[in-house]
Amino acid sequence: MRTKLVVGNWKMNGNLTQNQELLNAIITGTRELRDVVCAVCVPYPYLQAVQLVLKDTHITWGAQNVSQFDFGAYTGEVAAEMLLDFACRYVIVGHSERRSLFGEDNHTVAEKFKKTQSVGLIPILCVGETLAQREIGETERVIDEQLDAVIKLTGINSLAQSVIAYEPVWAIGTGRTATPAQAQSVHAFIRSKLAKQNTEVAASVQILYGGSVKSNNASDLFAMPDIDGGLIGGASLIAGEFISICSAV
Ligand code: 13P
Repeated sequence: MRTKLVVGNWKMNGNLTQNQELLNAIITGTRELRDVVCAVCVPYPYLQAVQLVLKDTHITWGAQNVSQFDFGAYTGEVAAEMLLDFACRYVIVGHSERRSLFGEDNHTVAEKFKKTQSVGLIPILCVGETLAQREIGETERVIDEQLDAVIKLTGINSLAQSVIAYEPVWAIGTGRTATPAQAQSVHAFIRSKLAKQNTEVAASVQILYGGSVKSNNASDLFAMPDIDGGLIGGASLIAGEFISICSAV
């Protein structure tokens, strides 16, 4: 049985005061929930403050990016080892905003995935197609290549210690959610692809859906057999929405 997981991706939002209020509300609002792990991935500067608020609670936390390099002369970058100082559990790698706005290609994403695992953290590997790719029937080919880059570098077994997030680019921040059937079909494709190489990995890996998940569509999405939870952007910044989404699993 795969546990359900709901991760808030705060992106580049928040400040110390707002974060504290948001987290306090989430801690209280999700306290009674069973069978779901809730997490937040926050901007680097807030990791220490978030750690202080969340330690000894049921909420886990992580970062939204990491350098593929070891310590050294990489101005502006953050090493995976640094994240250990703040007791992170997760690191989002390969988010489509990093791919499209910051030029991360499949190989770079695979290196970040590997670095994350090398220090014992869990990568949340984002994959997904653009609208143009979907419209010309390229969804599966694009996702195939995104996954293959990681499998080639780290091997199929490495995916057992990871989370995959299917985030169709056309659904991110647009209010246009994939239908449960559309999402399920891609999740099933991902799982069957992995199963060709290792059935145990395929059966155990959590595959989250991300892209305009809100309180009013979460339960239909999460009811799909291959959707193990969500990666939530905008709605994770609103306590009531995030709590409802966590409750929907
Ligand atoms: P939205 O939920 O705002 O569409 O963002 C999804 C996302 O990018 C999560 O990583």
